[in-house]
Amino acid sequence: MTPIKIFDTTLRDGEQSPGVNLNQLEKLELAKQLERFGVDILEAGFPASSKGDFEAVKKIAETVKDVSVTGLARAVKSDIDACRDALKDATNPRVHIFIATSPIHMKYKLNKTPEEVIETAVEMVKYGKQFFDHVEWSAEDASRSDLPFLAEIIEKVIDAGATVINLPDTVGYTMPREYGAMFKYMKDNVPNIEQVDLSCHCHNDLGMALANSFAAIENGATQVEGAINGIGERAGNAALEEFAVALQIRNDYYPFYTNLILNETKRTSDMVSKFTGMTVPGNKAVVGRNAFAHESGIHQDGVLKNAETYEIITPELVGVHSNNLVLGKHSGRHAFTDKIKQLGYQLPEAKLKEAFKAFKSLTDHKKEVTDDDLFAILTDIQTDTSNVKRYQLDHFFVQYGSNHQPEATISLTTPSSQSVEKTTTGAGSVEALYHTLDAIFVEETHLTDFQLSSIGQGRDALAEVHVSLTVDGHHVSGRGSAQDVLEAAILAYINGVNRAIYQKKAS
Ligand code: KIV
Ligand code: ZN
Repeated sequence: MTPIKIFDTTLRDGEQSPGVNLNQLEKLELAKQLERFGVDILEAGFPASSKGDFEAVKKIAETVKDVSVTGLARAVKSDIDACRDALKDATNPRVHIFIATSPIHMKYKLNKTPEEVIETAVEMVKYGKQFFDHVEWSAEDASRSDLPFLAEIIEKVIDAGATVINLPDTVGYTMPREYGAMFKYMKDNVPNIEQVDLSCHCHNDLGMALANSFAAIENGATQVEGAINGIGERAGNAALEEFAVALQIRNDYYPFYTNLILNETKRTSDMVSKFTGMTVPGNKAVVGRNAFAHESGIHQDGVLKNAETYEIITPELVGVHSNNLVLGKHSGRHAFTDKIKQLGYQLPEAKLKEAFKAFKSLTDHKKEVTDDDLFAILTDIQTDTSNVKRYQLDHFFVQYGSNHQPEATISLTTPSSQSVEKTTTGAGSVEALYHTLDAIFVEETHLTDFQLSSIGQGRDALAEVHVSLTVDGHHVSGRGSAQDVLEAAILAYINGVNRAIYQKKAS
């Protein structure tokens, strides 16, 4: 069995998904979870792109130690310098340098001849090699590049010191057989190719990302890049959890394995979905809500007789536990702390106290607190930015009826510690609430997206709201969960504005 290295780019390419905007604390928590999940390489960001990204990469490099941390760099010295500085405390750092190699990118985007692209790539790999033992070089838009040209540039960047060659299907254009053939071509035509890991990086524009990743490993790739839940630029990247589980389930067919800890899959997916606000569709492979549900009578009957009739993946394999009803009104601090440990969280005493208080207040309204509810409480507490002055909800009141124009009163404590109360109206109750918040905020805010979902099932399930907004022209997202839908909507909006304040302080 040959190992396949997993290169996770959830925090870089994944974060490029439209509307996704993670703050430093969220990135750090995700990095810790990705380390627990067992990814081999973690692309923490693009340090030269902003001060915030630089700081996030730096913090991740200082914190996670069981994974090789990398940062993205264009083929320019200043980007490589930013990676060097951000990754200086990483245990096993690497730089990821890319330059486009397709005729259309070279001509229109880079305005360079193929010879100039070779020269720049070689020069920058040599430059990166001065600071990093591991240098990954990516041929952006490889799948639309001329194969003999690609072979020539690859040979030269390997001679210059590259240790990984990545051949992305940047625009998700290629078909599995073609993509596989490109890897085979390089294996057959690049004399020094055995010195490096060959890597694939597939986008999902035509729904081929996973199939293309398999075609790549069938033809010599030893590293697969992708993102959790398949998030990423446009239609996203290959979903790493799908790749790893497929490889595990079909180990009778493929002589490959990954080092991922598969029973951390669901938790990793949930965390990514919660932090990014990108809800996982119910029918999504491996981690969707319905992935293990059997609806038709024939299927249910078969599963009862022998689960293998219709179930190829057990929920336990990916860390889905059906019996997750856990705590209630009478659960004490001890049971709560035990459960938190069981869920894999390590919280400092002050945060633990805060979490217990939030749990207790939830049990006032909800009889059974599930793992999902705890997950919502804990992720909010873990990524709380309350050390920065922010808006806080004191109370609210909404009037709404079939013959009434909805009217909302909200009282907030502002970042300057003043208590402000306003009342306004709107076409619906959420609009009335948001108009009222707009009247209180000093910042100029515009809502661009609103999504409501429930955490778990049942009438007393928590409501979760994700919003996208612009705050003084900057895109941010916000989330809030509460027993009441309208309260969750208010909390999400306030959270978005607070995140913008936090981001401004951090940048
Ligand atoms: O899709 C792509 O080509 C990329 C590169 C930067 C590796 O994300
Ligand atoms: Zn990409």
